[in-house]
Amino acid sequence: MTSIALIGFMGSGKSTIGCQLASQNHRKFIDLDDEITKFEGREIATIFAEDGEEYFRHVEEKMLNQFSEANVIVATGGGIVMNQNSRDILKNCFQTIWLEVSYHVVENRLRHDDTRPLWKQSKEQRQALFERRQGLYEECADIRVSVNERSPIQIATEIERSISFI
Ligand code: S3P
Repeated sequence: MTSIALIGFMGSGKSTIGCQLASQNHRKFIDLDDEITKFEGREIATIFAEDGEEYFRHVEEKMLNQFSEANVIVATGGGIVMNQNSRDILKNCFQTIWLEVSYHVVENRLRHDDTRPLWKQSKEQRQALFERRQGLYEECADIRVSVNERSPIQIATEIERSISFI
């Protein structure tokens, strides 16, 4: 069975839904951000501060590649599609599912968040980042699922049904 990757903007619920999907299907769940943190021995914010986004994207790509043949469910980081090599891996080696979320839902969910380096920008910058990424998620996705105002169980069940058709 092919590994499954969940993609989507910060706050779209990739980890929560990935966990749910994995438990419903008895598959192993991997949170790519957690794997990066373990591998680096540093928090993501520290990696960004000390070595920059480009370095982070490189490690993220290596980690993604590592799980491409592992038959697991991977929750990726929201910016993984910014890297062309990672996009190619998502397109060629995973069943990739885009959790499509509206910007206002993200703003609401992340209103108290101060852990994500790229969320700590002005609202205009965050919104521009959101817009810029939509086409990239679309480019990589085999399936797109709207996640606004639906429970993780509902979303995971819809994904399960779609997967059996691809
Ligand atoms: C990022 C999203 C984060 C994490 C890092 C960069 C991004 O993951 O990988 O802070 O560029 O959107 P989540 O999407 O899980 O928040």
